[in-house]
Amino acid sequence: MHVVDLAPSLRPEPMMLDDVPRVALIEAQVSLSPWSQAIFRDCLQAGYQCWVYRQVNVNAYLVLSCAAREAHLLNIAVQPEWQRSGLGGRILDFAIELARQEDVGRMFLEVRPSNHRAQKLYRSRGFSLLHRRKAYYGPPHQEDAMVFSLDL
Ligand SMILES: CC(C)(COP(=O)(O)OP(=O)(O)OC[C@H]1O[C@@H](n2cnc3c(N)ncnc32)[C@H](O)[C@@H]1OP(=O)(O)O)[C@@H](O)C(=O)NCCC(=O)NCCS
Repeated sequence: MHVVDLAPSLRPEPMMLDDVPRVALIEAQVSLSPWSQAIFRDCLQAGYQCWVYRQVNVNAYLVLSCAAREAHLLNIAVQPEWQRSGLGGRILDFAIELARQEDVGRMFLEVRPSNHRAQKLYRSRGFSLLHRRKAYYGPPHQEDAMVFSLDL
């Protein structure tokens, strides 16, 4: 894995249907329970906040839903070669900003207990553990979920 020199000009762009195959490719590389292309398409269709970061091709993405004064960070990922360069932090900051613009009071997310790097990132932005959901993630990598929340 090499360190990427993150261009300060790298900005979030709305995810388009054409981005979905590339997004799902990254998802398959980084997630133990990867979303299919159909799930990403459903999120676009549902009007969720779906954003990508790209230099040339998509390098990272987020999916956020906001309803009833609550925001839910449904997905966030950075392609392996681009991790540890600050992009994950930038995406999370952007997701929090989006939620604030939607005037929600609280933001939630689920994370695997084994996913220490994501937990560290969330805690660095003020998220804290709310509770645990038993066996939230199904086979083949069954695991509880830690539900994190942030007051906005
Ligand atoms: C979680 C994820 C989005 C972080 O993205 P990233 O671009 O690596 O994050 P950053 O470079 O902004 O790092 C932010 C902080 O995350 C933590 N972190 C990131 N990579 C880490 C690693 N390999 N080991 C330990 N901590 C790590 C650190 O706190 C880091 O800050 P620091 O390096 O200055 O101490 C990325 O690892 C990823 O896409 N993982 C796979 C998908 C995933 O797990 N999504 C979350 C599901 S809940």
